[in-house]
Amino acid sequence: MQIQLDSRPLAQVETDALVSYVFEPEKDLQAIEGAVAQLDQAVGGALARLAASGEVTGKMLEMTLVHFAPGIAAPRILLVGAGKREKFGTPELRKLAAAAVRHLKARSVKRIAFLARESDRGPAAAQAVTEGLMLGNFDGDKYRTDKKDRPVESAALVGFEAAAQPGVDRGRIIGESQNFTRELGNEPSNLLTPTLLAERAAAMARGAGLEVDVLDEKRIAQLNMGALLSVARGSAEPPRVIVLTYTPEKVTPGAPVLGLVGKAITFDTGGISIKPANDMEKMKFDMAGGAAVLGAMRALARLKPSIKVIAVIPSTENMPGGRAQKPGDVQIAMSGKSIEVINTDAEGRLVLSDGINYAKQLGATHLVDAATLTGAIVVALGNVNTGVFGSDAAFTERVLASARRAGEKMWHMPLDDDYREQIKSTIADIQNVGGRGAGASTAAWFLREFTGDTPWVHLDIAGTAWLDDAKPWAGKGGTGVAVRTLVDLAMTFDPRPAAK
Ligand code: BES
Ligand code: MN
Ligand code: ZN
Repeated sequence: MQIQLDSRPLAQVETDALVSYVFEPEKDLQAIEGAVAQLDQAVGGALARLAASGEVTGKMLEMTLVHFAPGIAAPRILLVGAGKREKFGTPELRKLAAAAVRHLKARSVKRIAFLARESDRGPAAAQAVTEGLMLGNFDGDKYRTDKKDRPVESAALVGFEAAAQPGVDRGRIIGESQNFTRELGNEPSNLLTPTLLAERAAAMARGAGLEVDVLDEKRIAQLNMGALLSVARGSAEPPRVIVLTYTPEKVTPGAPVLGLVGKAITFDTGGISIKPANDMEKMKFDMAGGAAVLGAMRALARLKPSIKVIAVIPSTENMPGGRAQKPGDVQIAMSGKSIEVINTDAEGRLVLSDGINYAKQLGATHLVDAATLTGAIVVALGNVNTGVFGSDAAFTERVLASARRAGEKMWHMPLDDDYREQIKSTIADIQNVGGRGAGASTAAWFLREFTGDTPWVHLDIAGTAWLDDAKPWAGKGGTGVAVRTLVDLAMTFDPRPAAK
């Protein structure tokens, strides 16, 4: 979709649909006021009459489509409810822009014009609207030959300040990158093996100007990534480790280096500890953490933060083959730690342990991993919040602040030392499951064992990386969660060496 600021007066904008939004009326204010009141004047008060009749209430995501209003060239006006003014911010703006696109593309609209409200005309608003339009325009129907909705082709942003342009540019980059992540998440495992994922990542990296290094099974073995290899054993598909590096123009010696590690199990059957058949098809999205890291790198290559960023994405299938690892096996991770594998379905933490170790070896001073790691986090937080675990209070707070700015809901989860007891093994250094309680925290503790003194934050996106049913603002499938948070984190990272 082409998105452009348009400085022409409203009446002159040629479009198939004019879109704006209205708040729930307050004491002395009407729903139809401000910029929307000007539009209402142009159409002879038609909108105000709809509001007076009770049809336009301003409730969040209420859609009112007005056809052939006299006085304007556009054949449609779409008024989107924006909810209560005091609860309104960029997350709501992004969401309503996405919902507007989805509403209109289902009605074969090709060109839209989005009219800014008087309070939201700057770069941050333009970014949120642009992101929303891009995200709403995306559908995971790549393989359908009878596509129902065709995407909207162009959007004019009307009534924004000229200074909003950088927001449009950022929004486009971030929206496209998040959609890149969503598309990878939707790919079936036969069409996105570790080898194919690495090829897609390398092609993206070349296009973006990122350094890329794909480790094949030989180099993985040379590096002694025993935990990753233990998972890969069961599959006929060879594993890969995808390494992408973004280097800023100016690198200060001793400056921090952000390491992003993403779980990329292209299919998780559970291995010998096999999963039930019900819902197993969903496990093609078990690479969503890796896809989020790839999407973030795609955006960062264009947004150019001043900090160096290294992405490490261990990728394999988790399959129950004749050579598959078995419950009770002991494996030696790249770090040298021995791991008793109690359950082969707890494979994410195994591949991440070597990924984390390698990111540190490559020079990461701060680590963030993203992973569809546990069903336990889905029980705890549902599909609403991503679970956040961290070893360093200040760094964890920075990631949470990035999530808030990016409009991604995340919740800080506990990682007390007490939980570590649960992953003690009788015959090895640690075991890969921690018993019945606190499954998301014991999984996080397993990862922490490999981070050493490096500040680290873990994002458990098992509940948030996939939408089971379409929402007004998003289609079913991969959500691209964590891309915006990771981008914000890198963009706001202080690149100066930490004070001693
Ligand atoms: N990929 C799954 C986690 C998952 C579950 C993601 C449901 C999305 C939805 C992970 O590899 C897994 O199987 N975890 C096990 C761990 C258990 C064996 C300790 C789980 O959560 O059941
Ligand atoms: Mn599993
Ligand atoms: Zn998994």
